[in-house]
Amino acid sequence: MADQQHYSPGLEGVIAAQTRISFLDLQNEEIVVRGYNLLELIERARYVEVVGLLLDEQFPTPERCSELESQMVQAEVPELVYEILAKLPARMHAMDRLRTAVSALAAADPDANTADPDAERAKAPRLIGHIAQIVANLTRCAHGEKPRSFEPGRSFAENFLRTLVAREVTAAEVRAFEQSLIAYSEHELPNSTFAARVVASTLADAYGALTAAVASLKGPLHGGANEAVMEMLLEAQTADRLEELIRHKLARKERIMGFGHRVYMRRMDPRALLLKRTLQELVNARGSGTELVAMCQRGEDVMRTEKGLYPNLDYYAAPVYYLLGIPIELYTPIFFAARSAGLLAHIIEQHQDNRLYRPRVLYTGPRGLKV
Ligand code: SDX
Repeated sequence: MADQQHYSPGLEGVIAAQTRISFLDLQNEEIVVRGYNLLELIERARYVEVVGLLLDEQFPTPERCSELESQMVQAEVPELVYEILAKLPARMHAMDRLRTAVSALAAADPDANTADPDAERAKAPRLIGHIAQIVANLTRCAHGEKPRSFEPGRSFAENFLRTLVAREVTAAEVRAFEQSLIAYSEHELPNSTFAARVVASTLADAYGALTAAVASLKGPLHGGANEAVMEMLLEAQTADRLEELIRHKLARKERIMGFGHRVYMRRMDPRALLLKRTLQELVNARGSGTELVAMCQRGEDVMRTEKGLYPNLDYYAAPVYYLLGIPIELYTPIFFAARSAGLLAHIIEQHQDNRLYRPRVLYTGPRGLKV
């Protein structure tokens, strides 16, 4: 039986996978993704380049990029998936509708049951494109409207944002949105990536592993936080009211969404710092939204002084999405769509060099009872 010193609640501090994909190097304050610094990728790369880097283990050539981008943009979502979405009630949580759709994608893939890394790598760009188009149409489908496909000739990021907000979008808006996609693309072994690797370790296929990941990501302690952040900011409306609201919640021992992190603990999530800059750039480009920035800053100040806690990336992704006019129910689905590239890289890596996950327990129940 496992003894006391091997038990770590929530696997805190436990190394649970060996990987070449990414690493949160707290020592050097760097988020390493395939050897690159994620912050530099956010500032200088395009999302499709990060997809290539994650899937191919090397930075993609321009030719590889255009091949990837056309596979992602031209991926036709199977009609069956939209038919299923149309049958789901609009009151159903968007992440539950997404979970159903991701699972249903397997129906249209004759090679769905594979755990072959090469086959999975070949289909990954199409899957990433499917998931983004499903996310961009979740609200439309829930209200009986016809889904819109991405258009060849436009970038993946422009297609994604334009379909989400159903209007023409500016280059500044596309860049801000694309930076958020890269920020969300990969982050070592969060709960949802671990869930995907645990499922893939039984040699279950990518659809099952992705479905597990979307189920995990919905949780408010994880991906669901970005929606909750926006709800809190909208409830407060002003910096003073936000301070009041946070103090009130803390007094009731409630968690403030968008703050804290299992790995970063009492440090700023480097991605949050960058998305804070993205938010400011968006506000400068729009010429409005300064009160929103001031409100976010006040929230930061209160949490730092009262709890010694700092924002994670959800805290600043939410106001960026709000200014872009994205429906709040789609914030976490977008997180999942952006992370699908990292998730697929982990699923492929798990299938490449697999060892079934089967941890032990510290049993604290009764013994020796007789029937
Ligand atoms: C993501 O893992 C990843 O990388 C995830 C992610 C990714 O890219 O995939 O980064 C994305 O999930 C970001 C996190 C989004 N979640 C939230 O914003 C929800 C709010 N945050 C917390 O619930 C919390 O900070 C967690 C869940 C993120 C981390 O929790 P831990 O590591 O289990 O920390 P803990 O619960 O043990 O808290 C330690 C202390 C406690 O105080 P005490 O009981 O010791 O007095 O810090 C307090 C907590 O009460 N605390 C908070 C808090 N987070 C921790 N208090 C108020 N508000 C918070 N947000």
